[in-house]
Amino acid sequence: MAVDQTNLAWETLLDLDTASGPRVVRLEQVLRDAVGSGRVPAGATLPASRRLAESLGVSRWVVTEAYGQLVAEGVLEAQVGAGTRVAAGVPPPVPRDLETTASGTVPPLPPRPRFDLRPGIADLRHVPRDAWLRAAREALSTASSTDLATAPTAGHPATRTAVAGHLRRARMVEAPDTAVVVTRGATDAMARVAASLRADGHTHLLVEDPSWPVLRDVARQAGLEPVPVPVDAGGLDVDRLTGAAARTGARAVLLTPAHQFPTGVALSGERREAVLAWARAVDGLVVEDDYDAEFRYDRRPVAALQRLDPERVVLLGSVSKTMSPAFGIGWMVVPTLWRAALGELGRSGAPSVVDQLTFARFLTSGGYDRHLRAARARYRRRHDALAGAVGHRMPAARLHGMAAGLHALLELPDDGDGRVPDAAEVVRAAAARDVGVVDLRRYQARSAARSRTLVLGYGNLVDARLDEAVARLAACV
Ligand SMILES: Cc1ncc(COP(=O)(O)O)c(C=O)c1O
Repeated sequence: MAVDQTNLAWETLLDLDTASGPRVVRLEQVLRDAVGSGRVPAGATLPASRRLAESLGVSRWVVTEAYGQLVAEGVLEAQVGAGTRVAAGVPPPVPRDLETTASGTVPPLPPRPRFDLRPGIADLRHVPRDAWLRAAREALSTASSTDLATAPTAGHPATRTAVAGHLRRARMVEAPDTAVVVTRGATDAMARVAASLRADGHTHLLVEDPSWPVLRDVARQAGLEPVPVPVDAGGLDVDRLTGAAARTGARAVLLTPAHQFPTGVALSGERREAVLAWARAVDGLVVEDDYDAEFRYDRRPVAALQRLDPERVVLLGSVSKTMSPAFGIGWMVVPTLWRAALGELGRSGAPSVVDQLTFARFLTSGGYDRHLRAARARYRRRHDALAGAVGHRMPAARLHGMAAGLHALLELPDDGDGRVPDAAEVVRAAAARDVGVVDLRRYQARSAARSRTLVLGYGNLVDARLDEAVARLAACV
């Protein structure tokens, strides 16, 4: 129910002098406090941005930016044609706080901090809402009765064709349309791959160390024991891979060749060939998690490994990093032999046909490409700003893995007395200053006693807060 708050004295309620930092940050903070304390109740309609800007004496941009951020956080809701209001109930967690799995063995991240440098979240303020709505309208108004009467397990043919076309262009993937299976995302795809591998007699899955714990956990739940293989500056160490495979009998590997998660390195050309040679020799399977290769800043995106041997590689992708995990849309490109098994498993949970048709329309109309271009430019600016701020405020620290994606590694410097820093301590100190960063240990399969490396994400960081976020972090180092 909308509560009319038009008569509230907003300039008193939202006293910007009670917060610090740039105006947009202050407005976000006082709005968050006003909602959190119940002074502005759930359902209350906020003033139009122009009106609030006038009463607070700030620019309208400050207000729209602050509203946008709080909508992304779930504190406010934007309603088409009806302004912005306080969301009902407790603000829902931000999607990548979904960084837990059903088994609960991947510990949840703490609540979202004000200066959010945690990896994993795309820029939620720039989710292409309008373009998606247009695509949905067009898709639904042109869908045939047959489209609406069926839900093919491997995905709607129009979506498979549109995704195949996109991947050929953008990722140089080699595949007929029928090789594409539409999924709910990489996690869903991994669950299907792991179940199929298990049914085929596999008992182990080689995984990069460090890597994203969610996919390891999904494999474990399907009955595959993850076997960690170290990563170095050239990506996955293939000699160690063949050793671990021989020891355990593993014949399948999960890896992130274009942009290793989280170290950011690309798998070298030589190692690409070596992994595929190993897979052919053991009659195995390579699972390529192609999670954020669209965002590359130093050169054209690294081509998918899949194209080098389409019959040995399953490629997984989704819109989670390019738009948001909330869309629940992804894809797999599957070798001929695995198509029946992996397509069939979609019976229980392929995305809705309406969403699939919308995505197909979004792709064929060029909407997705336009979104990616704009997002790439925005992330590049933020990436440059992060590098600049770290260089300025923490000159002794070193940034790695900055060539692509939405995150980087920050290697902490020794302190003045030569003492090796402990990332866990810095994470705690940063949290006390409302800065969210993650210790590299979170992603290690064989966790070291301590690490000196932080993983910094800049996907969803508000630009106006970047410098202060780094300044606060520098104070903890
Ligand atoms: C390494 C990695 N792979 C894949 C994904 C995407 O997973 P999903 O498509 O299930 O959201 C993420 C998202 O955070 C990730 O970090």
